[in-house]
Amino acid sequence: MLNVKLHHLSFRTENQKSMVNFYQDMMGMNKISHPNDGVILQAKNRIIHFVEGTKNTLNYAGYIAPDIESLEKLRTKHQKSGLDLLKSPSPIFGDTAYAIKDPDGNRLVFGLSVAKTKEEASMAGRMQHVVVASTNVQPLINFYSDQVGFIISDIVKKEDGQITSCFMRSDNEHHSFAVFLGDSNKLDHNCYETDSWNDIRDWADHFAEAEIPIFWGPGRHGPGNNLFIMVKDPDGNPVELSAEIEEVEKDRQTGFWVHNERTLNSWGKGLLRVD
Ligand SMILES: [Fe+2]
Repeated sequence: MLNVKLHHLSFRTENQKSMVNFYQDMMGMNKISHPNDGVILQAKNRIIHFVEGTKNTLNYAGYIAPDIESLEKLRTKHQKSGLDLLKSPSPIFGDTAYAIKDPDGNRLVFGLSVAKTKEEASMAGRMQHVVVASTNVQPLINFYSDQVGFIISDIVKKEDGQITSCFMRSDNEHHSFAVFLGDSNKLDHNCYETDSWNDIRDWADHFAEAEIPIFWGPGRHGPGNNLFIMVKDPDGNPVELSAEIEEVEKDRQTGFWVHNERTLNSWGKGLLRVD
């Protein structure tokens, strides 16, 4: 078990101003710093670092270890598994952090937080998972499960055997990272776990006030069993608000699901990224 949690994300954008405004106004986040490249926003349990670049792509995802001993163990494990350990691009983690790059060029950073900022009270939404889309999912799945050490919770397959989704965990929560089959290599979505279904109602009302429509949901995912709604940020990245994500039993076997609308949303309409 990796024993890490998603701590912060960094998105590339061609429209930093609109993105920063959205995450400030709609996700209740405040500007905490202005590093050489970009802007960092934070609210309780969620941090995003925006940088200039091709929109809809992940610059990096920061996963936090519980302490320095765990981080050093992880570094040794990753060195032994033949990963190239790179310099951390994250200004949020300290000097002990390191990065890895997957076959599509997405970077994950493992580290410890050094940010000491006042966290304003805000609507409940703990940054919980990030998903990337790829035209070639198998090398990514092999990379993340065999070399990095994520555990595969659930796999969704088409009838011909093509994998369309692979949900992976780094602790006892069903997934903190996932890979979806898509028509390009890009960021698929980012997700915030709330405390209850009522929080999702409050988020929906909050978006309604700003006339931002929910484009998918409310519903319940098959894999992960979580309740969800999704809206889009100004770059078109889906933002998911979730509740009740599955806590996985220790010896749970990997689950296999059929690629259909019901798997993605047992309450109704599914959002199939590929047919
Ligand atoms: Fe999700």
